[in-house]
Amino acid sequence: MMNRRTFAQALAAGTGAALIGSEQAGAAADENDVAQKQTAQPEPSLPKPPVVDAASIQPVCVADFRALAQTKLPRPTFEYIETGSADQVTLRENTAAFQRLKLLPPILSGVAATDLTTTVLGHKIALPILLAPVAAQRMYHPQGALAAARAAAALDTVFGVSSSAANSIEEIAAAATGPKWYQLYMPKDRGVARRLVERAEQAGYKAIVVTVDLGEWKDADRRNRFSLPREILLKHLRDVGFPEVRDTMSDAELVAFNAGAWDLTFSWELFEWLRGITKLPLVMKGILRPEDALRAVEAGLNGIVVSNHGGRRLDTVPATIEMLPDVVDVVGGRAEVFLDGGIRRGTDVLKALALGARAVLIGRPYAWALAADGEAGVQRVLELLRDELQNALVACGCPSVREVPSSLVTQ
Ligand SMILES: Cc1cc2nc3c(=O)[nH]c(=O)nc-3n(C[C@H](O)[C@H](O)[C@H](O)COP(=O)(O)O)c2cc1C
Repeated sequence: MMNRRTFAQALAAGTGAALIGSEQAGAAADENDVAQKQTAQPEPSLPKPPVVDAASIQPVCVADFRALAQTKLPRPTFEYIETGSADQVTLRENTAAFQRLKLLPPILSGVAATDLTTTVLGHKIALPILLAPVAAQRMYHPQGALAAARAAAALDTVFGVSSSAANSIEEIAAAATGPKWYQLYMPKDRGVARRLVERAEQAGYKAIVVTVDLGEWKDADRRNRFSLPREILLKHLRDVGFPEVRDTMSDAELVAFNAGAWDLTFSWELFEWLRGITKLPLVMKGILRPEDALRAVEAGLNGIVVSNHGGRRLDTVPATIEMLPDVVDVVGGRAEVFLDGGIRRGTDVLKALALGARAVLIGRPYAWALAADGEAGVQRVLELLRDELQNALVACGCPSVREVPSSLVTQ
């Protein structure tokens, strides 16, 4: 078994690529952890989890799924999902900023029915809530990303598939036929990257998402020496397209290989290159500055995700909802603008739509739901957020998610 510290170091390299897992990985993360008291603190701005027996909760909101996940996961795995980087200022702000924004609905506006359907990158979906790319999903549930794919398909929404989801592009495509975007962590070897893009295209994925905010720095993971079994890393590297990875490699060789495999310093040139090799829409995930959004539009990007990686990368960057209006302004309709970070309620979705997002993505909410109840859990959390959004639309007199006026939101 690989030295846990060594894997933690590989993880700290920040590619996200070392973050791969399985149900075995969850169990192997630390056998003692399962028995450990679940001591992680809730996200500060979420309601405290109920003091009743969490395992008996019938979830009625995202926070309930969080409480359930906490009872099911080894503590290091729960904290891997939960925590943000450094002092977690950005993690807190992502949710707090939504709560600071207030809704000001017109009365007697008489909306009886609402239309939640929209299009993203030309594809019709049933609700403007997408699953964000999330790594290591088999650590949260044995079915991992396969379960998430099925749940997204059942709700007719997009599954953003992480490069590090712990199943291959093809395995996830075979699990469900719903719309999928492939999130690319860039291998240094452009041949490997090209093959990944071609495979995603062949498997019917609808877009390539390039995550540009790299370099995770989370105290909890270092404190917990959060790590993964070598067999999972082996599968991941082979799934990505490194057949030269051999079972006989020593732990040190494997870690060195992984550390050297990923490009953390690519530039805008990458997007010209990608445009040259694929006709799929290209999405950049991790934009906060309006200037960068403008440059992305000029570079021909089709979509932008205003994201700070759920507060997991650089701490003290602003909440995404605070940056959204300026980004929407400069983009001026030339690309589709999405937002993630801190969505915990249907009202959060409504606020993001009002401020110009075409749709939102959720990360932790479905990771918790996956841990709580696999495919059914992810389906349920999407349904709950959908129903909350519907309720908010009716209360605000909005007949459609495609026409949410900015005047609904006030400071
Ligand atoms: C456990 C976990 C793993 C993640 N893994 C990835 C990843 O592999 N690739 C990526 O682009 N973003 C990743 N993210 C970030 C999400 O895509 C998304 O930006 C973030 O979770 C949104 O914030 P939220 O969790 O508050 O919804 C991850 C987030 C979490 C919680």
